[in-house]
Amino acid sequence: MIIIKTRKEISEKIIQLKKEGKTIGFVPTMGALHQGHLSLIEIAQKHTDVSVVSLFVNPTQFNNSKDLEKYPRTIETDIDKLQSVCTDILFLPNADEMYPEEDTRVFDFGKLDKVMEGKYRSGHFNGVAQIVSKLFESVLPDKAFFGLKDFQQYVIIKELVKKFMPDTDIEIVGCPIIREKGGLAMSSRNELLGAVERENANIISKVLEKSKEIVNEKSVEEIKKYVVAEINSNSFLKVEYFEIVDDVKLENIKNWSENNKKVGCVAVFCGEVRLIDNVYYN
Ligand code: PAJ
Repeated sequence: MIIIKTRKEISEKIIQLKKEGKTIGFVPTMGALHQGHLSLIEIAQKHTDVSVVSLFVNPTQFNNSKDLEKYPRTIETDIDKLQSVCTDILFLPNADEMYPEEDTRVFDFGKLDKVMEGKYRSGHFNGVAQIVSKLFESVLPDKAFFGLKDFQQYVIIKELVKKFMPDTDIEIVGCPIIREKGGLAMSSRNELLGAVERENANIISKVLEKSKEIVNEKSVEEIKKYVVAEINSNSFLKVEYFEIVDDVKLENIKNWSENNKKVGCVAVFCGEVRLIDNVYYN
């Protein structure tokens, strides 16, 4: 695995690889890598010739400085994990490299970044768009791979490319959620949970799965009430939101008879740790 730390060097390397006819698959991450991240790399390797992973804890997407401080940083083990899955290139820039000056760009995503995560984490998706657009410009991938665990991020990144980077032609590929044995969606933040909290956090995915089983018996509103009540009935958990939306405009689904794909998205506090998960109803 080659480790590259500057934007100039990675662009030069990629241009050289493209001249050799190679296709580039890109997986942006913030590190503290787990099997969820590694699954994206494995998918990238199936779709493209060269796998590029970036590791950068992006300060502009944290709306809470404590959250940024607390974010796990495990660079040495991350490098070992990347090597174990035969990653070709690690792009490992520092903050001065990515933000030599303040990034004041404001991306207009319409309603997409006002709902759900956007409503509770103001400015978060603008920060994500800032860093991902810069990473895309440096890495120039043919395809970029994003986890459906961060479903809203995936939808917004597709819009970022379509609306703000129309000349780049980057294909955004959504990849399945990887879960712990107990069902909890893998996340770097799970490291912040104690053993008992972690056990109780498994309830989140269990309730989402259960809601899928009873979807034919209940209205959209009833399913929403069911999910919130079931999760909140566990004393370790507190739902921040649960919405059932379509997978393109993220508009609230009113009836199951609507034609769009329907995704139930939840954010839950387990103690101080904020967890997200989702389920496709069709
Ligand atoms: P991070 O949280 O490190 O996630 C990197 C990628 O891994 C994202 O596409 C995320 O959806 C995916 N991922 C995380 N957990 C997963 C799981 N359990 N199953 C499948 N995929 C999973 O998302 C970010 O970083 C940042 O916002 C980033 C896009 C890198 C911009 O800074």
